[in-house]
Amino acid sequence: MAVNNQKWWKDAVIYQIYPKSFQDSNGDGIGDIPGIISRLDYLKDLGIDAVWLSPVYCSPQDDNGYDISDYQDIDPMFGTLEDMERLIREAKERGIRIIMDLVLNHTSDEHRWFREAKKGKDNPYHDYYVWRDGEEGVLPNDMKASFGGPAWEWVPELKQYYFHQFSVKQPDLNWENPKVRRELYDMILWWMDKGVGGFRLDVIDQVAKEPDRKITSNGPRLHEFIREMSRETFQKGDLITVGEAWGANTENAKLYSNPDGSEFSMVFQFEHSMMDQQEGKEKWDLAPLPFVKLKKCLAKWQNSLYQTGWNSLFWDNHDLPRIVSRWGDDGKYRKESAKMLAAVLHGMQGTPYIYQGEELGMTNIRFTDISEYRDIETLNVYRERLEEGYPKDEVMRSVYAKSRDNARTPMQWNGEKNAGFTDGTPWIAVNPNYVEINAAKEQKDPDSVYCFYRALTHLRKEHPVFVDGKFQLLLPEDEHIFAYTRTDDDSEMLVCANFTGEAAACPLDGKWKDAQMLLHNYKEELGEVLKPYEAAILIRRREL
Ligand code: GLC
Ligand code: CA
Repeated sequence: MAVNNQKWWKDAVIYQIYPKSFQDSNGDGIGDIPGIISRLDYLKDLGIDAVWLSPVYCSPQDDNGYDISDYQDIDPMFGTLEDMERLIREAKERGIRIIMDLVLNHTSDEHRWFREAKKGKDNPYHDYYVWRDGEEGVLPNDMKASFGGPAWEWVPELKQYYFHQFSVKQPDLNWENPKVRRELYDMILWWMDKGVGGFRLDVIDQVAKEPDRKITSNGPRLHEFIREMSRETFQKGDLITVGEAWGANTENAKLYSNPDGSEFSMVFQFEHSMMDQQEGKEKWDLAPLPFVKLKKCLAKWQNSLYQTGWNSLFWDNHDLPRIVSRWGDDGKYRKESAKMLAAVLHGMQGTPYIYQGEELGMTNIRFTDISEYRDIETLNVYRERLEEGYPKDEVMRSVYAKSRDNARTPMQWNGEKNAGFTDGTPWIAVNPNYVEINAAKEQKDPDSVYCFYRALTHLRKEHPVFVDGKFQLLLPEDEHIFAYTRTDDDSEMLVCANFTGEAAACPLDGKWKDAQMLLHNYKEELGEVLKPYEAAILIRRREL
């Protein structure tokens, strides 16, 4: 078996596509697979190695595809299985692999298994889901679902409740049942046969739940299940696998991303991503970002997984607000701060992920009326919080900061109608700033956020220190500067960045004076005081 160190995904850059909002090809206002195919050259130009596709399987779209009714077919809204096969093929011709999103914690309530399961307690599919006997109105316990309301739903015909960690239309699968696991593995093998390059595993840390003990993430059998799945499926191919694990910590991440390949390639962990919320509360309960804590958190992940695991690097995805609006400045310093955030992220050790539009510095959306929002989570929290007596202004402030729809408005391709996303009416409105912020404009402008991202993806291929170098955080207590080095046998790289909108001193070792500048987001020479959101990446040969 190949040594983990040689794995292709270590020097890869992954691009996430949210298919519904990427490119519409037939004017129905919904992005689709032929639309993605038509943009493969754009992705190749950006220099990415693989695309992670959010779910395109058959789905009633209660949670935009994360509620799957058939794992082995494509939803007609996105195209056909032939379109999917063509995408895999055409991407491959451009050196791009396709990563599918596997939602294995739950299915749609419209999945055949669940429709069977509801027919009776003796139906062979009944035990595919998690049921508890009971009485109407007396819930098995007080567990809550992620999208609001209780985690239990009553089925009168059966006089039973089923368990759902997400919406009522997303019943949880029963992983204790070996037949369920086998079905899932066979489905994974079927996709591997089609030539996919890897999988992203949705809320995978929640599959080994034990509702009677109120355990959802990190259940006792979790790693046993993952190792079994990996053995039965992923290990038969040369895949990248990344588990989504909100409950990951640096200790269990070493299991998930064990270099022996027994589980996944890496996980998405969210420790840094939950820092701008009030402790012990929900993401909607806003708090300022504790910058020094953020640096220490990322440094901890860097150091803990060095040679014992592997990090994924991301600021954005389809569940998170746009990073330039969140921790940068989407006004005066939009370009500078978007580039700074990119440099800080891509300079660390791990596999970087770019979420569609991040490479353009796309920003959060502020719809004035709640009816313009589409996300089930946003709509539910809005309703619930108003019922609980929160002032509307405050609820909207939370929505503006954290709604998942911030990242789900259509991709901004050009300055034409609907940003070039569709000829029809988009399923969710386009951000009006597309006239300023769009791919066509940025591809022509060497000074754009897009060109900065492209430079980053290429630098990663030219300098092995990006992949292998050991991380060291500099100036840990500094309230403005995010600086670190990466060091391997041959060279030393420095990333120094001002994370704020005020000029800030960045005292550095004199040895960096004659280092080579790899990338810089200001035209003026790098000085000892960094301008607002200034960021630079330098490299020097190591003295022996
Ligand atoms: C993951 C997905 C999210 C989805 C949830 C339920 O967190 O990223 O979009 O709503 O799982 O499947
Ligand atoms: Ca379409």
